[in-house]
Amino acid sequence: MNEYKIIKHQYDVVVVGAGGAGLRATLGMSAQGLKTACISKVFPTRSHTVAAQGGVGAALGNMGDGDKWEYHFYDTIKGSDWLGDQDAIEYMCKHAKESVIELEHFGVPFSRTEDGKIYQRPFGGHTINKGESMAHRACAAADRTGHAILHTLYQQCVRHQAEFYVEYIVIDLLKDPEGNICGVLAWCLDDGTLHEFQSHLVVMATGGYGRAFFSCTSAHTCTGDGNGMVLRAGLPLEDMEFIQFHPTGIYGAGCLITEGARGEGGYLTNAKGERFMERYAPAAKDLASRDVVSRAMTLEILEGRGVGEHKDHIYLHLEHIDAEILHERLPGISETAKIFSGVDVTQQPIPVLPTVHYNMGGIPTNYYGEVVVPSGKKEKKIVPGLMAIGEAACVSVHGANRLGTNSLLDLIVFGRAAAIQAGKLIKPNSPHKKLPEDVSQVALDRFDRIRNSNGATPTAKVLLALQKNMQNHCAVFRTEATLQKGIDELSNVKQLRDDLKVTDRSLIWNTDLVEALELDNLLLQSEVTLHSALARKESRGAHARDDFPDRDDKSWTKHTYASIDDGKVNLDYRDVTLKTLSSDVDSLPPVRRVY
Ligand code: FUM
Repeated sequence: MNEYKIIKHQYDVVVVGAGGAGLRATLGMSAQGLKTACISKVFPTRSHTVAAQGGVGAALGNMGDGDKWEYHFYDTIKGSDWLGDQDAIEYMCKHAKESVIELEHFGVPFSRTEDGKIYQRPFGGHTINKGESMAHRACAAADRTGHAILHTLYQQCVRHQAEFYVEYIVIDLLKDPEGNICGVLAWCLDDGTLHEFQSHLVVMATGGYGRAFFSCTSAHTCTGDGNGMVLRAGLPLEDMEFIQFHPTGIYGAGCLITEGARGEGGYLTNAKGERFMERYAPAAKDLASRDVVSRAMTLEILEGRGVGEHKDHIYLHLEHIDAEILHERLPGISETAKIFSGVDVTQQPIPVLPTVHYNMGGIPTNYYGEVVVPSGKKEKKIVPGLMAIGEAACVSVHGANRLGTNSLLDLIVFGRAAAIQAGKLIKPNSPHKKLPEDVSQVALDRFDRIRNSNGATPTAKVLLALQKNMQNHCAVFRTEATLQKGIDELSNVKQLRDDLKVTDRSLIWNTDLVEALELDNLLLQSEVTLHSALARKESRGAHARDDFPDRDDKSWTKHTYASIDDGKVNLDYRDVTLKTLSSDVDSLPPVRRVY
């Protein structure tokens, strides 16, 4: 192992990941004078936030609908099916307006209304005054909002002299002799060197793990690496059973067609040409929350009313919308539909299918981004030196089902909150403790073991078996039998992994090894997901159990915490916070959710 050359660095903060959350935190930390390194496995503007389309949610009221943050607060709790923590939801909705205006001032090229304000469109589950009418709350840059935000944040980071380590793979968290997080070990793809980053604070902004599934809207890089590292560090992940299926992934390809398409007047039909959402959500119809629409589409298909030769998908219609409006407001998806389904959206409907899109669960945090673990039934304890933000984190503002547009909002509100909190916790350039010479050894041993895997099964084969297993056994509808089958099959996938063959042993641009490391992270997350889902004996939000069709508030208004100890999954629980942060808004006791 002497061949490994380790280069050492010291920073106040290390941010892992350069998507919207990572960049917003890096910007805020650098601007306060904290010596900040942002490490990313891709060039920052290629991070998955670039794919976010429809908008960022904030009750600006620019379209004359009288929108208020309190309505947004109500919709988010209802959308979460009462699993979201109400103090965190209050924090997010209250800080939405200033966070979006700040983006505008940073230079995000939002679309504009006639009178020059930020253009806002309707989105699923966002309403005025508890469902009275649909709200125009999604602040949009055409249908390329994530792209616009990501590029602007990167430019601002450069302006504030943030330091980037690009195309570096973070292998694992490092712990000091007292067991506290003290940095990360990373591998530079370009020259094959290894880098030990010591820092007062590590911020995980590593995104979700959509790639554990066969069909998803997530980029190939979405392997939840931070979640994997946290599990290996012996810490739990929260609410991993809640996986969001976006109603409109392109049939066959999985690419996202924004919910903004329905916000602009698009609608779904089945094989009989029926606008079936009228039956499932009489008020909100096609703009009900995503879990409701995805379940309705799945039921239509299961009951034989799917479209196409195999009756296995649904049509999304935009052809009735003025071609000029489509060109101005939905140019990106018009192009995507043409490329990936051969459809001219001005003439024909787009074939779509619910597709894995978002992980509501992740690394548990408070609303300052600090990682926490449950302490008794109700309390949380802070894990010193570690933060998590964005899709990697579970604050929890999305609960059992996230509303569209609240993901971009989560990135910027909590990326910003983490930066503010870091400024309170750390004095710029404060001295570092001396670490033992072998502080990286455990991480290095694992890296070396995977690099030298000498079995007979290529990574791609193990990954495919994992993705098919998750897609088949942890889908829109679940039962004890399907989830147990998923757990049993996962043992077979792990056996395949134990026979892994990494063919390329080099250290420079070794994508074979990158994929093997990512696979390891996906496997751990899939395991806790399946166990968390099997244990939750109710239906809530995106977790629809055919064998327990009702929400059970008495037994299950609680968060799941899943950790892995000696290869075994352990589950713990904490009550949902139903109390608000301040007296500005009343808390909402659970009621039945109807759209
Ligand atoms: O449909 C969309 O544009 C996706 C937005 C989101 O997930 O928030």
